Amino acid sequence: MRSFIHALPKVELHLHLVGSAGIDTVLELARRHPEAGVPTGRAELERFYTFRNFDHFLKVYWAVQSMLKGRADIHALVVGLARDLAAQNVRYAEVTVTPYNHVLDGLSADEVFAGLASGRAEALSSGVDLAWCFDIPGEKGLAAARETLAFALTERPEGLVSFGLAGPEAGVGRAQFAPFFDAAREAGLHGVPHAGETTGPETIWSALRDLKAERIGHGTSCVQDPALVEHLALKGIPLEVCPTSNVRTRQVASIADHPVRQMLDAGIVVTLNTDDPPFFGATLEGEYLAVASTLALSHAEVARLAENAVLASFLPNARKTVLL
Ligand code: ADE
Ligand code: ZN
Repeated sequence: MRSFIHALPKVELHLHLVGSAGIDTVLELARRHPEAGVPTGRAELERFYTFRNFDHFLKVYWAVQSMLKGRADIHALVVGLARDLAAQNVRYAEVTVTPYNHVLDGLSADEVFAGLASGRAEALSSGVDLAWCFDIPGEKGLAAARETLAFALTERPEGLVSFGLAGPEAGVGRAQFAPFFDAAREAGLHGVPHAGETTGPETIWSALRDLKAERIGHGTSCVQDPALVEHLALKGIPLEVCPTSNVRTRQVASIADHPVRQMLDAGIVVTLNTDDPPFFGATLEGEYLAVASTLALSHAEVARLAENAVLASFLPNARKTVLL
């Protein structure tokens, strides 16, 4: 099964650029920016990366982010990510970038976009095609939404395909962001908010109803509402499922307890993703392997999961055909 999974041409739809920073990159950044308070020894850093809960995860994530200080840091992240993807035969990825946070941390928008563009060009030369999702850090409210939309519409970098919403869900209602998702959609960007990762099915309903989400980031809690499960299956709205992430942030107890089985049985379009891979000790191949062995999937069922991701991607149809 391992070599079968490796050989599948894969697509990843849910991973965050900052969350893709490997341990070596983070160590290098931590030593360069000691004021960020990120451990500068490997063993200590590994302990720092052991998440107690979702809030602790976000704290670590924000600490790593605060060490990105220039174009070269962004470029290095993109190239490092592409290297990790290429090693797993991942041919295309939609990567979530949060320009608002980088600018808040002191980079200029020009540095962020130049780093993305040069990193993307280098990635392409190693056979990995990267697309961007610009997301609103929801906890920073409407100012963040306004700025993120402005970055998306005025800069419109090559490869930008979608508009997202991440961060904590509790107390951060999805509906308030509706005008921004409307404007992004009118400009041709697809809506892909996180929903139902850390809160219940009502957040997923709101993402669908208010933000007109085309895919849902996580959607883990959908199984608590049979009507929602039926709706997702009937409308063919894909879920970007991130099993190891959900275990590591303690949203589910183990892969065996993850509702991915129920989702598949209900006919929901499930895609497998890593979210923040080195943070969670995850790889995309590892996600396929864990789900395949836990659910005793056949080779054909595993291939179907990879196909789901290709079909749910925002690649043009002609490009999808090549990957199927
Ligand atoms: N930012 C990075 N990873 C995230 C996740 N899994 N959920 C919400 N916000 C995030
Ligand atoms: Zn995420």
